[in-house]
Amino acid sequence: MTELVRDVVIIGAGATGLTAATTLKKAGASVAVLEARDRVGGRLWTDDIEGAMLEIGGQWVSPDQSALIETLDELGLETFSRYREGESVYVDAAGQRRRFTGDIFPVAPETERIMNELIERLDAMVAEIDPDAPWEHPNAREWDKISWEAWLEQQTDDAEALANIAMFTGAAMLTKPAHAFSLLQSLLMAASAGSFTHLVDADFILDKRVIGGLQQVPIRLAERLGDDLFLEQPVLRLEHGDDGVVAHGRSVTVRAKRAILALAPTLYHRISFEPALPRIPQQMHQHLSMGFVIKVHAVYERPFWRDAGLSGTAFSPFQLVHEAYDNTNHGDERGTLVGFVSDQNADDVFRLSDEERRTSILESLATYYGDEAKHPVVYYESDWGAEEWTRGAYAASFDLGGLQRYGADLRRPIGPIHFACSDMAGAGYQHVDGAIRMGRLVAAQIAEQDAKGAQGPRA
Ligand code: FDA
Repeated sequence: MTELVRDVVIIGAGATGLTAATTLKKAGASVAVLEARDRVGGRLWTDDIEGAMLEIGGQWVSPDQSALIETLDELGLETFSRYREGESVYVDAAGQRRRFTGDIFPVAPETERIMNELIERLDAMVAEIDPDAPWEHPNAREWDKISWEAWLEQQTDDAEALANIAMFTGAAMLTKPAHAFSLLQSLLMAASAGSFTHLVDADFILDKRVIGGLQQVPIRLAERLGDDLFLEQPVLRLEHGDDGVVAHGRSVTVRAKRAILALAPTLYHRISFEPALPRIPQQMHQHLSMGFVIKVHAVYERPFWRDAGLSGTAFSPFQLVHEAYDNTNHGDERGTLVGFVSDQNADDVFRLSDEERRTSILESLATYYGDEAKHPVVYYESDWGAEEWTRGAYAASFDLGGLQRYGADLRRPIGPIHFACSDMAGAGYQHVDGAIRMGRLVAAQIAEQDAKGAQGPRA
């Protein structure tokens, strides 16, 4: 057993933990990072699958994600734009395929009018929400006790408009069924991206990718830590008290003044806290759960859809694959499509055999792009639900009423224990940008408390 003494022990080497660790180290603190997996990056993972470089986890960068963009610049990483020339495809409830340009799907004029009106109304509501404190809005309680789906049903009886609007924060973002989270949670999702319109605008929200893969962010940050990073060290026991913490990894124990839990809050229950956490956090952590989406990668000899004048962008709340994009790598002659199968659809296809699941997913892609889509040379499903140290994708959100009830407590330190993760970000919530913001915030919180010479208040 290696025994270390440090100022701060950081548990988790994702974008949050590594941002916090490198920021603290730069400011002169001694740190140790304990990571459960045999790699850094957590939900960022760029890998070679049968000769194809795939972004198994997060990949896109949008123009509002200033913390991520600053980090990319600082690390010398270059970006390229997602391919978007040509027409997009929409498939309606009857399975009818239509090509279109712009953001609004090619629906009947009345449905289009309702969709535009809803987006406008949601933009106005979102503009009133502080993404760092949505629970402070005067309507927070009211908006948190109604599901996103139930609220939309109160606004319109146009089923197609409802399904499309529900998808933007449901299947496409929180990756839970629209009845399983609140209107307030949906508004937070949009506020964290700047507006509801931004979520509708795929060219904004899925703007750029990093050449060589987004996992280079955690990899390059980790290089700055040298010997202060320890892999394959799941922390399952954390002693804490007035004199600091002791974090127990598999073969490394770190005694420190403070700990940062830089992992999804849905995984805190894996850790035995000694003494147990106070009742509010113990309760609160049970009201958060991970969404679930399968990210499907299909690589072809060439991007055949481009020959047909298609951008590769495709949507349908009625399809197994509810959204798909051209995900061809920078400078690659082969063409890659990426598609997403969300929430209950994802559960359902994992009840099928591997072959049946692959066939169903490729048939759904073929509905958008034609039969050629059924024959990729490389096919891969990112299954984060099966990952012990993540257990879902993309991130965690509260159940009905949870955000208003507990949101303000989520980031509050408990004695020497601090909490940070993209799942508790305001701007950049659920995204790498939010992870970096939370890493910076927790480092600043610790520096401030150290400057005051006091430990954080007990909850
Ligand atoms: P993260 O979960 O990455 O890191 C936590 C770390 O803690 C992990 O390395 C884990 O192994 C470790 N850990 C857990 N328990 C531990 C324990 N007990 N002891 C020690 N270590 C422990 N974002 C974006 O900006 N653009 C995008 O396009 C996408 N797309 C996307 C697709 C998919 C499929 C996924 C899964 C996610 C995305 N995201 C995304 C989201 C983005 O990847 C995510 O928000 C951040 O990478 C999360 O970073 P964190 O460091 O906060 O958590």
